[in-house]
Amino acid sequence: MTKPQRILGIETSCDETAVAVYDDRAGLLAHDIYSQIALHAEFGGVVPELASRDHIRKTLPLLKNLLKQAGLGLADLDGIAYTAGPGLIGALLVGVTIGRSLAYALNIPAIAVHHMEGHLLAPMLEPDPPQFPFIALLVSGGHTQLMQVQGVGRYQLLGESLDDAAGEAFDKTAKMLGLPYPGGPELARLALQGNPQRFSFPRPMTDRPGMDFSFSGLKTFALNTLHEYGADAQTRADIAIAFEIAVAETLAIKCRRALELTGLKTLVVAGGVGANRRLRERLQILAQQHAARLCFPRPEFCTDNAAMIAYAGCQRLLAGQHEPLAFNAKARWAMSELPAV
Ligand code: KG4
Ligand code: ZN
Repeated sequence: MTKPQRILGIETSCDETAVAVYDDRAGLLAHDIYSQIALHAEFGGVVPELASRDHIRKTLPLLKNLLKQAGLGLADLDGIAYTAGPGLIGALLVGVTIGRSLAYALNIPAIAVHHMEGHLLAPMLEPDPPQFPFIALLVSGGHTQLMQVQGVGRYQLLGESLDDAAGEAFDKTAKMLGLPYPGGPELARLALQGNPQRFSFPRPMTDRPGMDFSFSGLKTFALNTLHEYGADAQTRADIAIAFEIAVAETLAIKCRRALELTGLKTLVVAGGVGANRRLRERLQILAQQHAARLCFPRPEFCTDNAAMIAYAGCQRLLAGQHEPLAFNAKARWAMSELPAV
């Protein structure tokens, strides 16, 4: 393609409404996120119907404001990428419908993006991005997966969680400790006051070969510890740090296996739990031990955002992939179904 491609990204798969414009030559031009945290806080978790309704209210105003701030008009867009799954079906449908119909009205291509592919490619938005092939650890609220990545759409699953995702385990344990939603960052904050020597939590599934994970037992271990030792402030902080260390350590052990098995020298970490400071530090040590390079998105692009959706959509558009007029949202969608680029 001779002219630069400017892709609008729309993300509405869960509780963040996000929009961004990515230019294949100039990079990320603008992005904005509206978080629904306050809306769901009193319910202790995301209420799907409230999420969908709020996306309807927020997406277009957010988009208008983004274009205004970037000094762009709708006519400057060359394609529209939207998260088509996986996620909450009602929430997804808002972004899919707005994205697909806007593309139709502007007579430009529409690109349906897989949310986890967005997360996986988010480190590409950073200066000095990772080079293919690499190992990717995807750790979000809904997924925990280790992948061998040869290129866009060329993903081989090495291991995944057989029960709770890492972020889900953070959120559930945080709730148990009386922390508000969303629990992951709150638990990490509480852990700062914890004594790491007091409790030692198990590292699930590290005593057998393979790269699958299981995090639901850690949550039960936290609950039992809480019952046995009481729920005073110090005990809660001590449980938080023991839990956080166990998750970071378990993830690091499986990442080490992935590096050793494949001989690859780049480890990419993406998804909300990738914002966790202790995990970052632990993986940094692992990378040093293996003379490997560790790549993260900036913390704000670890959690849900539209910059990653615009980027992933742009790669697929440049490869000639886009959607027919019919649109589809998929609550479940395996990454193995994605075509290679
Ligand atoms: O990727 P993400 O924003 O949304 C999904 O696609 O799921 O991930 C959200 C998850 C939540 O479970 C949240 O608690 C967790 O990421 N999270 C964290 C941190 N920041 C977000 N977990 C631990 N430490 C953090 N700093
Ligand atoms: Zn996500």
